[in-house]
Amino acid sequence: MLSDAARPRPGGGRDLPGSATEGFVRTYGKPPEGVWSAPGRVNLIGEHTDYNEGFVLPFAIQHRTAVAASLSPGHSVRARSTFSSEPAGAALAEIAPGKDAGWGAYVLGVAWALSSARPLASLPGVDLFIDSDVPVGAGLSSSAALECAVACALDELWGLGLDRPSLALAGQRAENEVVGAPTGIMDQSASLLGEGGSAVFLDCRTRHAEAVPLRLEEAGLDLVVIDTCEHHAHATGGYAERRASCERAARLAGVSALRDLRPEDLPKLAELADEETYRRARHVVTEDARVTEAVALLRASGPAAIGPLLSASHASMRDDFEISTPALDLAVEASLSAGALGARMTGGGFGGAAIAVVRKEASAALQEAVKEAFAGAGLATPSISTVVPSQGARREY
Ligand code: GLA
Repeated sequence: MLSDAARPRPGGGRDLPGSATEGFVRTYGKPPEGVWSAPGRVNLIGEHTDYNEGFVLPFAIQHRTAVAASLSPGHSVRARSTFSSEPAGAALAEIAPGKDAGWGAYVLGVAWALSSARPLASLPGVDLFIDSDVPVGAGLSSSAALECAVACALDELWGLGLDRPSLALAGQRAENEVVGAPTGIMDQSASLLGEGGSAVFLDCRTRHAEAVPLRLEEAGLDLVVIDTCEHHAHATGGYAERRASCERAARLAGVSALRDLRPEDLPKLAELADEETYRRARHVVTEDARVTEAVALLRASGPAAIGPLLSASHASMRDDFEISTPALDLAVEASLSAGALGARMTGGGFGGAAIAVVRKEASAALQEAVKEAFAGAGLATPSISTVVPSQGARREY
C-alpha cells in the first residue's frame, strides 16, 4: 500500500507532505499549489450513536492522509494516489451518486458535495496527488481522512470559505450519497475538529463540539490499537441494518431519534418492540449515557477512571448491538487479562480494530499477550500500535 517514494521523517513517521508533493510533480510535471492533510480517528467511546443524534467522543490520531493539489484548466477533477495504480477522475458536471467505485468515489464525492450547489462555471478543475499512512479497513477512518483532506484542499483552492462543520457535512454527503455508506458525522468531525492531546466531545444533534483533554501521558497510560486485520466495509450489510433497527425503535417509541430516550425509558420500549430491536436500542441509549459519564470522569478524575465504561461499551456492542467478531472479542479479553484498565472494539464493527487503555509499564507485555492469544486461537497476527490524540486537518504548506 505504501509508496516507496515516501521518505522516513526525523523522529518516526513518513514525510507524507513530501511524498505527496513528489508524486504530484511526477504525475503533473509541476509543483502543487499546496498540500493539505487530515488524520484518521479512534473513537474512545460512543459507537453507533452519531446517526441516532447522540454523543460521541473520538479523537484524531497521528496517522494522516496528505493531498497535494493545484487548480487546473477545464472543469475536471483528476486524482492519483500511492495506494492504487488506478487513477480517479471525472468532469465536475458528470460526477453523480452511484457512478464511481473504489477510492476515487471518496475524492469525487467530496468534489460533488462541494460543487453541486455552485455554478459550475465558477469552479475550475483540480489536480490531486494523495498519500496516506492511515491503515485501510482497520476501523481508523481512512475514508474520513481522505474526504477531509480533499475537502480542505478544494475549499481553499476554490475559495469557498466554508467552516469546519460544513466541510464535515460535505464529507458525510460524499460517503452517504456517492460511496453509498449510510454513515454518521462522527469520523469527519473528529478528523476536522481534533486537537492535540484532546478528544472531541460532539453532540451529533446540535453539532456542538468541545475539546476534552485526555491527559494520557500525565496519567502514564498508553492507548493501544489492535487491528485484527479483518477488514470491513460500511457500504454493505450489517451497518445499514443496525441503522434501520434504530430508526424502527425510535418510531415505536414515538421520538425523532434514540437520542431522546433515557435508560429509564427502556422498560416501556421493551413492551413495544421485538426483542432484537429492543436490544439494538438498549445499546444506543446506554452508550449515550456512557459517553456523558466518560466525559465527566475524564474531567474529574482523568483517563484511568474510564476503563470500566470502555469495557461496558464493548459488552453492549457484543451482546446487544451484535457488531463485534470473535477476533475483536479476543483482542478485548486478552487485553483485560493482561492488565488493561478497559478495552473495546472501536468504529463501525464487523471487523477492524479494538482499543485498550493500559499503564505504560504493562503496555509491551499486553501487546505480546494479545499476539499470543491470536496465535493460540489460530488467527492471523494482529497489527498493534499506540495512538496519540493529534491535531485535526490542516494546510501543510
Ligand atoms: C463508522 C461510521 C460512523 C459511526 C461509526 C460507529 O465509523 O462512519 O459514522 O457510525 O461507524 O460509531
